[in-house]
This record gives sequence, structure tokens and C-alpha cells, in this order.
Amino acid sequence: MNEEQRLEGQQSVVTKDNKQEKDYSKYFQSVYMPPSLKDAKKRGKEEVKYHNDFSISEEFRGLGEGKKFYIRTYGCQMNEHDTEVMAGIFSALGYVATDTKEAADVILLNTCAIRENAEDKVFGELGHLKHLKREKPDLLIGVCGCMSQEESVVNKILKSHQHVDMIFGTHNIHRLPNILKDAYMAKAMVVEVWSKEGDVVENLPKVRRGNIKAWVNIMYGCDKFCTYCIVPYTRGKERSRRPEEIIQEVRHLAAQGYQEVTLLGQNVNAYGKDLEDMKYGLGDLMDELRKIDIPRIRFTTSHPRDFDDHLIEVLSKKGNLVEHIHLPVQSGSTDVLKIMARKYTREQFLELVRKIKAAIPDVALTTDIIVGYPNETREQFEETISLFKEVGFEGAYTFIYSPREGTPAAKMNDNVPMEEKKRRLQELNALVNEYSANALKQYEGQVLEVLVDGESKKNPDILAGYTRKNKLVNFKGPKEIIGKRVLVKVTEVKTWHINGEFVEEVATIGVN
Ligand code: 5AD
Ligand code: SF4
Repeated sequence: MNEEQRLEGQQSVVTKDNKQEKDYSKYFQSVYMPPSLKDAKKRGKEEVKYHNDFSISEEFRGLGEGKKFYIRTYGCQMNEHDTEVMAGIFSALGYVATDTKEAADVILLNTCAIRENAEDKVFGELGHLKHLKREKPDLLIGVCGCMSQEESVVNKILKSHQHVDMIFGTHNIHRLPNILKDAYMAKAMVVEVWSKEGDVVENLPKVRRGNIKAWVNIMYGCDKFCTYCIVPYTRGKERSRRPEEIIQEVRHLAAQGYQEVTLLGQNVNAYGKDLEDMKYGLGDLMDELRKIDIPRIRFTTSHPRDFDDHLIEVLSKKGNLVEHIHLPVQSGSTDVLKIMARKYTREQFLELVRKIKAAIPDVALTTDIIVGYPNETREQFEETISLFKEVGFEGAYTFIYSPREGTPAAKMNDNVPMEEKKRRLQELNALVNEYSANALKQYEGQVLEVLVDGESKKNPDILAGYTRKNKLVNFKGPKEIIGKRVLVKVTEVKTWHINGEFVEEVATIGVN
């Protein structure tokens, strides 16, 4: 559904006992569209519209005057960035941010659906918020993000968490002003979740977290439909932003003094495929962005299948394009990859790695791996171990497979006991730690370029930052260097971080 279809659509609200009440719609203009994973899977039937004209309408001005908002974000960087957009909309409405739930007039949970434990955390938090709502009945509580795209979640909230005032989906973020207004006026829970693609909306306000590193969406959605993954259903079909919009945003961030940009998409390597009027891919985009005077540019997340030679060639030009690539492999077994519908074999993945290493010899590769896929044999798991070693990954996010309702894998019989899955995860994690520590050993005694993020989380007397290859470095130094790139001499390497001594600031010259 897009904006036009919404306006044509039937509008109603859902009361907290889950009954449709027709006449409310006339007054409150709320929209109840039950989310549907089935609908979400239907692709391309509806045209994706590109809106350049987002603005806050007069009717919402001052809606947040004297009020505070609090957003808790779960999950990936895409969600973090959506939170920045929602914070931008709240601010434009006159709300101010607070970092305590108790002080808030509106609380949003921006949720993640990728694994069951992510969902459990959100339901736990909703349980806690019940008490707050009882003490403060005017408080508005909202659930948004990926979980709100699942009909089972929406039904559970409608049934068992009636203290929630609004649920809205990942395609409905730009409608936050309308949703808030409805929630203030309606006695019922406001549910607005569009199941399909959604549009590309430009000009959304953003309140970025910090002024050192920024995230920039280059595309939305995913059409890959890996059999375990809920994302193609919760985030809709692949839609790319226009290159000129992205370039302008990155230029603007550079002018504001940002030091690092991470380009975001669920499958950034598919960037541009849907731009009908031009042949333009991620390689072309990176080639343009590398000319912008901003010290570091990253991207996440890659899919090996769409990682083309042009992109490799552009990345090998380096400059502000960092030599770290996060390249999720998921499994080292061709048979498991096939069941996962990853659309590449072990050999094809290794060939891609060979090409990347030939072009960028000092590249740092990290990955995502799922263990205990339905019916994964011990031998297949060992193929993952051997692939990990063969590539020499420097880090990995590792997961036990978690069935997601509505995905093809959730229907597969699974003969691997949970105890065995846990053992495999432990074994893999031991290897990941060993390889991470080994990768850091090469830096002993060296001087590294570190972008200083701020004080270390554990000790405010220590500063923390990251190298181009995304290695965490802790060191003592003056607070004035926060936000700058500095040289740090390595004094000690640990499993996941480096300790060092501040040497000097990096001279700021153009990156090209
Ligand atoms: N179970 C376990 N891990 C998953 N991931 C995605 N879906 C699932 C699932 N159902 C992992 C993949 C992906 C990362 C973001 O999360 O490894 O790359
Ligand atoms: Fe999920 Fe990534 Fe596969 Fe898309 S490419 S379905 S987001 S794992």
C-alpha cells in the first residue's frame, strides 16, 4: 500500500477488545489494516512512489508542546536510524527528548523481529510499562518497528497488552504525526501497519545521535527471501533512494563535520536494481561518494550473491572507502546454503573472497553465521568451521537458528536437539574469539588511525574509538580529541579490543 491507496482505503480503528467500530473512523481518521505476512510477500503488484515533499502539516504544529518523548531501540542499525527519523519528527512537533521512561509523555519501543529472544525482550518491557501507565494514565505507549509488521504480534498486543496506545509499522514512520494525534483523541488502540512495500519518502527530519558518525539509508527492504528470515516481510520490497539524494545527504554531513558515514540497507549490493531509468549500482555510488571530503565511508549489510566486480574495483581505490567488509556467509555447507535459499555455493563464496583479497590485500572480513539450521548435520557444521578458517574472518556475529512464524524454514522438520545447537555455537564462538585475537596480534607495537567516539563505556577516564577496519581501541587522551581522528600506539591486544597510547592528531587534509 502507498499513500494514494491509503487515502482510497477504508479507515477504522480497533477497540481494545479487538472489534471494529465503523463510526469512529469518521471522527478520528485512524486506519486499521491488519498486517499480513502473506500480503507482504506479494511483490511488485503495487507501484512504489517517491515522495520528495514530506512536511509537518499545520494541523500538527505544537502537538508536542511541553511534552517529552522516549524511544527505546532494539535490533539493527536500520532501526537505530529509523529512531533518528522518529526523533526528528517528534522534535518538529515540539516534543523534547528524555532519557528516562518515568519523565516521558510518549514512550515508543522500536522493535526487532529477527530472532525470538529479540521479541521476548520487547514483551518483557511491555510488561514493565504496564505499571508506569497505571501511575500515569496520560502516558502514550507505542510499538513500532519490525515486530509490528507481524500479525501474530499485533494480535497478542491487542489481546494481552491493552495498555499499548498505538502500533505502527516500518512503512508508516512518516505518518507518526497523524498516529500521535489519533492516539490522543481515540479511546481505542490505534493500529496502522501497511503490509506492502511502502513508498520512499525523502525530506524526513532527523535528529542524529552524535555528530561524529552518521547513518544514511541507501535502500529499503529486501527481496532475497532467505528461508529463515523475516526481514523481507517486515521491511517490504527493495526500493533504492535516488543517487543524487544520497550524494547530497553525504555532502551535507561532510559539511557539518561528520567523520564517518555508514550506508544502510538490508541488502546494499542490490542497490540500484530497481531504478528503472538508469543502470546504476553500489559500485557507481561508492565511486561518487569517495570523492566527497569525509574521512570514512562504510556500508552494511552485504549479500555475497550481488557483490559485483565493479564494486570490488571501486573499493580497491580506498581513500575514504575503508578496508573492512561485513559479508554474511550464514553457512559453509553448499547443501545448507541451498536450503537457506542463499543462492550461492561454498565455492562461489570462496571465489568472491579470493577476488576481494586479490584487489584489497589488507581487507578485514567479518561475517554472520547461523548454526543449527533445521537438520544441519555435524559434517555440514564442520564445513562452516573449515570455511571460517579458510577465509580467515576477523570477527563474526553468530546465532542459533530461531524459527520465525510465516517463513519457509519455520515449517521444516528439525532433528537437531537444542543441546547440540548450543554446543555448535560454543565451538564456533571459541574459533571466532581465537581468530579475532589473532587478527589483533598483527597490530602489536604499531601506530593506528583511530576515530575517537568518546569516553569508554566502562571507564570515563579512558577514550574509545575505532580503526578503519572497525577494531575497538581504548586509550588515555585529552577529551578535546573526541570526534577527531588520531594516531594511537598499540600497547596491548586483547580478544576483542586493543589498548594503546595517544600519539597525535591526524592532520586534516582532503581525502583524495
Ligand atoms: N535465526 C537466527 N539468525 C537469524 N538471522 C536472521 N534471521 C535469523 C533467524 N531466523 C541472522 C543472520 C543475519 C543476521 C542479521 O541475523 O545471520 O545475517
Ligand atoms: Fe534476510 Fe539478509 Fe537474506 Fe534479506 S538477504 S532475507 S535481510 S538474511
